[in-house]
Amino acid sequence: MNWFSALLGKRDDAAINHDESDVPDFVPSPPAAATNIRRSLPRFRGTAADQLCTGTRPLDRTRLQLRHAFTPARPIMDPAMLAGRTNLLRTMIRAIEDQYLHVVLFGPRGIGKTSLLHVLCGIAQQSRYLVRYVSCGERTSFDGLMRAVCADIPLLFHAAYDPTGEEIEEGLSFADLLSDQPITVELASDLLGKVAGSRLLVVLDEFDRASEAEFRRSVAELIKNISDRGCRVQLIIAGVAHNLTEIIEHVPSIRRNILGLLVPNMAPTEIAELISNGQHASGMTFTPKALQLISLAALGLPYLASLVSQHAGFAALDRDSLVIDHIDVERGITQVLDHLELRIPPDLRQNLKSALAHGHEESLGTLAQLALMNSFQLPQPADDGSITAPGADQCAVPADVVHRISDDYHLIKITSVHGSSERRFTDDGVPLYLWVRLMHRHVITSGGPTNTQ
Ligand SMILES: Nc1ncnc2c1ncn2[C@@H]1O[C@H](COP(=O)(O)OP(=O)(O)O)[C@@H](O)[C@H]1O
Ligand SMILES: [Mg+2]
Repeated sequence: MNWFSALLGKRDDAAINHDESDVPDFVPSPPAAATNIRRSLPRFRGTAADQLCTGTRPLDRTRLQLRHAFTPARPIMDPAMLAGRTNLLRTMIRAIEDQYLHVVLFGPRGIGKTSLLHVLCGIAQQSRYLVRYVSCGERTSFDGLMRAVCADIPLLFHAAYDPTGEEIEEGLSFADLLSDQPITVELASDLLGKVAGSRLLVVLDEFDRASEAEFRRSVAELIKNISDRGCRVQLIIAGVAHNLTEIIEHVPSIRRNILGLLVPNMAPTEIAELISNGQHASGMTFTPKALQLISLAALGLPYLASLVSQHAGFAALDRDSLVIDHIDVERGITQVLDHLELRIPPDLRQNLKSALAHGHEESLGTLAQLALMNSFQLPQPADDGSITAPGADQCAVPADVVHRISDDYHLIKITSVHGSSERRFTDDGVPLYLWVRLMHRHVITSGGPTNTQ
């Protein structure tokens, strides 16, 4: 028996005739043997440069196109792929251009804030705005932010420099005027006050991720200073905060300088446009029944629409079809369900499993639907603690079940925001999973799209 068979506790017949002294001389097979592996392992269909490998199937080109047509894991960068949101974009542009306001975009993750910002940046650049987009992180500091912003403003746009001067020829920027000293709000305001001959938009995405209170305070003070001085600089801030005060809580007087905009769920026509854009980009076609099912599953959330459409497309390609039927959408929804389950933190997933096993599936699905239709926030409970859908007469989830879901399974959290309490699922992944699970049960297993709303 050779040494690793012994380790495995198995008899190795091939080694029976070998002397034990052979063992130390055991030489592993050379790596070349690996190329003779008979198992056919899954392979990438294309290269990392988006080129198809030789010998791929004819529909693999469509598969490549499909990946770009629906991008649930990436924001929209190409304005042609941005569905709907026309009024929101118009409102933002008017606020920036006509009222010189700063804009705060808020709404849950996946609702389309970053996509909107990218498209807005492109539109502003076409009108010769200087634009600096920054995605904030936990460690974003005011000093770092300001240095990055200043590096993007050529000295050509400094009021005190002659456009034909040497510094402009050399391509210097506002950053070249900074010393090594930390940049204070005063210094930043003074410097930004010198912007002339253009306007600057500083776009701060994922603002809620910048956890330092000091950073938020500095940004709020900067907004106040540059508004008071009439600087040619405006800030566009986006985050998941559910009301404006959560983002700008430090300097109440800046409220009049800010337009707060909630990014709402998309209308059915906007979701239809999203799918239609993806249809053109992928070269695939959705049947009317498939469209109806995706629209129902999306619940106005572009992330869900994009995720389900992409999975449905792959399901159709797997059966060599360029036409996506409701069967493919159903398969797509099944895969999306697995994907969403894995996104839930493990301890919460355990609680969720227990709650589902104890007969709360229907109530949880209803609560998830209500939350997803309202920026992930649950309706306020009635006096008896039950939760009712807005405008409905009958209670959707009775008080005792609401209590069990919050207190026993910790799936709902209550946060106090300026005196009033808000109820949300503990993790945003939970309502997404529960809603798709409800869809899966009601629509798919019962055989065809029905209106569950
Ligand atoms: N208007 C839109 N048209 C098409 N797809 C969109 C739109 N808004 C969002 N999406 C899709 O939804 C997903 C989430 O959008 P994103 O902009 O990243 O949201 P947020 O920044 O609010 O988390 C992205 O994959 C994007 O492809
Ligand atoms: Mg984002």
